[in-house]
Amino acid sequence: MDIRSTDTSLLTWTGDTLALGLPEGAVEIAGELAELNDKLGGTLGELISETEFEGKLGSSAATRLGGGGPIRKLILVGLGKTADFDLQTLRLAAAAIARLAKQQKSQALAISLPVVGDQSATAGAITEGLLLANHQDTRFKSTKEEKGAKLETVELLGLGEQASAIAKAEQICSGVILARELVNAPANTVTPLTMAETAEQIASEYGLSLKILEQEECESLGMGAFLGVAKASDIPPKFLHLIYKPQGTPKRKLAIVGKSLTFDSGGLNIKGAGSGIETMKMDMGGGAATLGAAKAIAQLRPEVEVHFICPATENMISGRAMHPGDILTASNGKTIEVNNTDAEGRLTLADGLVFAEKLEVDAIVDLATLTGACVVALGDDIAGLWSSDESLAAQLQEAAKLAGEKFWPMPLEEKYFEGLKSPIADMKNTGPRPGGSITAALFLKQFINNTPWLHLDIAGPVWSDKENGVNNSGATGFPVRTLVNWVMANN
Ligand code: BES
Ligand code: MN
Ligand code: ZN
Repeated sequence: MDIRSTDTSLLTWTGDTLALGLPEGAVEIAGELAELNDKLGGTLGELISETEFEGKLGSSAATRLGGGGPIRKLILVGLGKTADFDLQTLRLAAAAIARLAKQQKSQALAISLPVVGDQSATAGAITEGLLLANHQDTRFKSTKEEKGAKLETVELLGLGEQASAIAKAEQICSGVILARELVNAPANTVTPLTMAETAEQIASEYGLSLKILEQEECESLGMGAFLGVAKASDIPPKFLHLIYKPQGTPKRKLAIVGKSLTFDSGGLNIKGAGSGIETMKMDMGGGAATLGAAKAIAQLRPEVEVHFICPATENMISGRAMHPGDILTASNGKTIEVNNTDAEGRLTLADGLVFAEKLEVDAIVDLATLTGACVVALGDDIAGLWSSDESLAAQLQEAAKLAGEKFWPMPLEEKYFEGLKSPIADMKNTGPRPGGSITAALFLKQFINNTPWLHLDIAGPVWSDKENGVNNSGATGFPVRTLVNWVMANN
């Protein structure tokens, strides 16, 4: 899809399909709209009245314009209330337009949407909505034809020259799409080895450095928690450490640590019927978003040093599997009684966090499909956010707001750590069912000393069973855009 912005106005554009956004309320055909309506022989007014189009957010209408006129198809999308307009309004409108244009078999499209903020932010948000809604993962179909027509060219009307904002949005979306493709791919395709290969590709394409810690090196660093999980798998674990360094002195040093379980069977506490075991290819969603963010940041080149860390393995069963009740020692010396092998993500992250803190970064963000309990609490669209540092939490929420991704602050309620007390080791890896996402966060906190740290439980939003906003069904690429905005805000 070739996206360009132009000063051409709604009235002078000619071509295949014109898409317009209209705010909520009785549409008044006056001014520019009246001129357009005249130019289209009254079809705009007819379409609005016949479909009772009221501009409600998410609503749309489309028609074919007969004769050899200047425009062949017209698409209307509702923008909702003017007072509520934000960048997400633009993304949602652009996503709706992309889907309708495909259905209408449009190849050349022009879009007229209001400016929110400034012209470059507007062009960026529209580009994101178009690219994310347009992406369909057909890699695993024997016939690769996508539904509808392929959108070839899109012109953003009345926005002037926005080539750099569009290019930036394209770079960010390339990271989101990488994350989606990693999560969509099943566990017989994406393994710790392919995660490592993906990191290698990013490193070589954009000049990042990559250190892959093999099992022996993890052993010598004392990563007993990560390796305890990895033990049963026939595929060797790969602890990935990808580093983006800017040219000059970095303004800040940040670390992102993503849970990278390419499959979670539960281990010997195996996931039973109805547990969703067949969806557990998504359990590397945190690592996928970490690599997606790396791909985007490597292209955006901020003056910030960023460490991307993915302790990649599978949680499997075999004669070598860790037993329920085993005691593991993490790389900070703390001992863990594994009372449930299905609480494996926190074990891998424990060593990931200790490793990140040794890098002496200014802040650490971890992201993980960590608990079903977080999905019960916040549903499919909202991730949980825990932090030991208020200003880091505020930074992340600001980045999320810009991205149109949702996080809800959750408590690091120290008293609940009592649920993780072990009679024999420093802690258990699992507490009681109530507050399960909170005890998971408190467990992670044991592996951080002083560095400002923030934990995101993304088990709900990494996946969508149906079309939802800018996402199609399948992996969403959540929260790559928030991570990128957060890093760029430190620039
Ligand atoms: N990977 C799962 C969490 C998960 C659930 C991710 C649903 C995506 C969708 C995690 O490793 C897990 O199994 N958690 C257990 C923890 C329990 C044993 C304390 C859970 O949530 O049931
Ligand atoms: Mn598990
Ligand atoms: Zn898991």
